[in-house]
Amino acid sequence: MKFEFDPETRRALGYKLIDHINDYFSSLPDRPVQPPAEERSFRKLTETMPDFESDAATVLDDICHELIERGFHVPAANYFGLMNPAPTYMAVLAEALVATLNPQLASVARSPLASRIETETVRWIGNRVGWAVPFSGTFTSGGNEANFSALALALGWKFPGVVEQGVATIGGAPVFYASSEAHHSIDKSAGLLGIGRQALRRIAANDLAQLDPGQLESQIQLDLAAGCRPFCVVATAGTTNSGTIDDIVALAGICRRYDLWLHVDGAYGIATIFSDRHRHLVKGIELADSLTIDPHKWLSMPFAAGIVLTSHPELLEPTFAIVTPYMPRAPQTEVVDYYKIGAQWTRRMNSLKLWLTLRVHGRLAYEELIEKQLQLAGLLRDWVVGSESFELAAPQVLPVVNFCVKAPGLREAELAAANAGVVEAVTRDGQRWLSLTHVRGKSVIRAMIISYLTEKRHLDGLLRALERAGREVALPAAR
Ligand SMILES: Cc1ncc(COP(=O)(O)O)c(C=O)c1O
Repeated sequence: MKFEFDPETRRALGYKLIDHINDYFSSLPDRPVQPPAEERSFRKLTETMPDFESDAATVLDDICHELIERGFHVPAANYFGLMNPAPTYMAVLAEALVATLNPQLASVARSPLASRIETETVRWIGNRVGWAVPFSGTFTSGGNEANFSALALALGWKFPGVVEQGVATIGGAPVFYASSEAHHSIDKSAGLLGIGRQALRRIAANDLAQLDPGQLESQIQLDLAAGCRPFCVVATAGTTNSGTIDDIVALAGICRRYDLWLHVDGAYGIATIFSDRHRHLVKGIELADSLTIDPHKWLSMPFAAGIVLTSHPELLEPTFAIVTPYMPRAPQTEVVDYYKIGAQWTRRMNSLKLWLTLRVHGRLAYEELIEKQLQLAGLLRDWVVGSESFELAAPQVLPVVNFCVKAPGLREAELAAANAGVVEAVTRDGQRWLSLTHVRGKSVIRAMIISYLTEKRHLDGLLRALERAGREVALPAAR
């Protein structure tokens, strides 16, 4: 059979790949994030599908060379980027094992051990949330699917007819709430759930970039008076742009008063529950009806790994389960058939990488990581505060720092152009990466400490590059 190799060739190819991976890991502390701007051209995708075989070792060498030498390196220590981490080495090994064993997590009958490990991992995380009530949940492909699943739960909780009979049974326009800074996967989910993206009421963020509880309550009252059917509030723990954490306790109080589901999108920030010292940042998390947490953000997992958890486990099957004649049955145990409690059917084992990382390094490794990254972000924030060229654009809570060119009197478009000029100057040589975004409608430069490989010396390099860009771009713009 064509796909088979003899044992010697398998070993040789495997070792070849491991050598590439090993060299790559060694290079990450000093590797540029991408080639310099003038070298960022790629071959045209014009090759036709190969009909015939090629030498495996050569193909493997060539693709490793191309991806590593010409690619964009999210795991690099100088990636001050979006919420994408350097993967732990144990997670990389776990991924190879999962691909090899290919356990089918849809049903326990075909993954009796793998499903147990997944259930255990979900339990470890739920226990750190601190729920006093039973909880359950499942791994997902990421935060988008986790938020979608949580909103499906919220909708079915408030309007029990929707799963079988659809949204027409609601008898009024369903509406729900999130801050103007919440992630756009929430809008996407509303469209896909059939309630329409306009069902999402985005409440203006306050000066702290948090969902404003007063404005939220006013909007709920307006909606109720207009005959709408509010069902959920989405709090964010770690907004994408600024790492802001909404006041979960205040929002939980409003949810209880108006009988609304509280979902906390903590795709990034809920990782602070891994730290005894910093878990207070997500105070009130245990008041949530559902949570999103993405191990492929702060927990240093390779894509894909999201988790949705709920303190209403009894709603999972009514929302997601379906009966088929062909799925094998296993005796009822504490482990569930995952196709019955999640949006996916065939299920990849996304939990082993986190389980293995925790087994090898322990929770305290994350506690240390969180501490280190918060300290580095504090240094960056302090540097901005003392800088001639830049000023802070939002409070720093998690290891995300928003700042902008200090130029009183610039119009928004001019400020955006000056910020873009700084980012272009800092990223042009490919050594490091940071990005632009908007917070509360205003252009900001966004720098995040996300790779566990990032040390003080990398931050110092970034600060030197920013200082240069400040002299070349920011100060002239301010004049
Ligand atoms: C706060 C927040 N929620 C949800 C998501 C979507 O997560 P994913 O990209 O894993 O689907 C993101 C992505 O960055 C996010 O920042």
